[in-house]
Amino acid sequence: MSELLKKMNKALGLELRAINMYAHYAAYVKGLHRLQLEPLFQSEATESMLHAATIRNAIVKHGGKCVTERDSNPINHTENYRDMLQGALDTEIKAAATYGELLQMLEDIDDRELYDSVEQIYLTELRSVEEMRLLLN
Ligand SMILES: [Fe+2]
Repeated sequence: MSELLKKMNKALGLELRAINMYAHYAAYVKGLHRLQLEPLFQSEATESMLHAATIRNAIVKHGGKCVTERDSNPINHTENYRDMLQGALDTEIKAAATYGELLQMLEDIDDRELYDSVEQIYLTELRSVEEMRLLLN
């Protein structure tokens, strides 16, 4: 498998993990924080699903084979909202780093459309990193 396909599959695995993690935290977040964090976690889960779809289509277009298993990094079960936000922050930092690397690889490849959509995803991940940081402050 090419390095590009490997990196895209890394990103896809991370998105599959993020879908799982955010859906889990949306179900378990309790108390007054639930009012704000349940919708936030739901929308992050939906966003991860959209990112996964974009990357999956790109892997298919480039003749690759998509992973079906999520990234194996454990999802910490907790009912503490700060621990959830910390898990979210760590997840977003890793996603942003992976898309940053993918973007660099795409600079040498003739697929402008893919470059643009990965750039959009990358910017979204960076915004999420900032959002989680602010919520934890
Ligand atoms: Fe994402």
